[in-house]
Amino acid sequence: MIQSDGIRPDQYEAIRALVYRKAGIALGGSKQALVQARLAKRLRKLELSTYDEYLEYLGGPDSDEEIVQLLDAISTNFTSFFREEKHFDLLTQIVREASLKNAHKFRLWCAAASTGEEPYTLSMVLQEAGPSITDLRILATDISTRVLKSCQAGSYDAQKFKNVPEPLQRRWWVREGGRLVAGEMLRKPLTFARMNLAEAPYAMKGPFDVIFCRNVMIYFDTDGRKKFVNEARRLLAPGGYLFVGSSESLAGIADGFTSVMPSVYRKGSP
Ligand SMILES: C[S@@+](CC[C@H](N)C(=O)[O-])C[C@H]1O[C@@H](n2cnc3c(N)ncnc32)[C@H](O)[C@@H]1O
Repeated sequence: MIQSDGIRPDQYEAIRALVYRKAGIALGGSKQALVQARLAKRLRKLELSTYDEYLEYLGGPDSDEEIVQLLDAISTNFTSFFREEKHFDLLTQIVREASLKNAHKFRLWCAAASTGEEPYTLSMVLQEAGPSITDLRILATDISTRVLKSCQAGSYDAQKFKNVPEPLQRRWWVREGGRLVAGEMLRKPLTFARMNLAEAPYAMKGPFDVIFCRNVMIYFDTDGRKKFVNEARRLLAPGGYLFVGSSESLAGIADGFTSVMPSVYRKGSP
């Protein structure tokens, strides 16, 4: 049976420090119950009975693998198709303008892809808006290996498609019973990879025309946010766009960017 009095404050503090060091995620004091509930499952799986044993295990030879599992267990993965829809209207406009200028190449990085609804939405929107873009690539990354498996599978319960217009469902998805599975053309521009935004400098070269990094910086402190924004600035092409979640502000840390609308920034001066 797992430590019956729950996780102690010193044990929670040790987990919190580790999660911050490894992923830049600043877990608040109020997350103790959630962390305990999620880690109880890991303890059961590993047949450990106390959080001290778990902390010891995290310092042991299997630590790299377990840290991935720990981050998987505590991260919040809520997402949906066409979440924060205004962003996709603006993206459509950006790609149409690029298409009018006869651009063939377009690069987008989706930096916290979660279970895939966001990168698949991006693939639909970009391909619908810019048929002249023949060289389209979308890099979709996340720290969690669990969610990346769902991205790769690209198979979702039909209930999740309420926000996806019918014609788009028919054009880009294949119905299999109660599920919709990403069709070949929808998958084509997408590459999925594990990447930790807390570990700068980031490995990719860029430049990207657009970066989506939505609803992940809320879990970072100011240093973590700054680290990401500096890397985004380095990796964006001049005039490239950075989209963040609508509840995330870059006030005070958006040097080198111009605000386009709330939660959208453009690299360079107006
Ligand atoms: C709430 S979801 C947001 C998904 C999507 N961007 C959206 O807005 O719908 C946050 C995602 O950030 C990921 N994440 C958390 N910390 C991260 C880090 N340090 N590096 C990369 N991804 C991280 C989580 O695994 C999770 O999938």
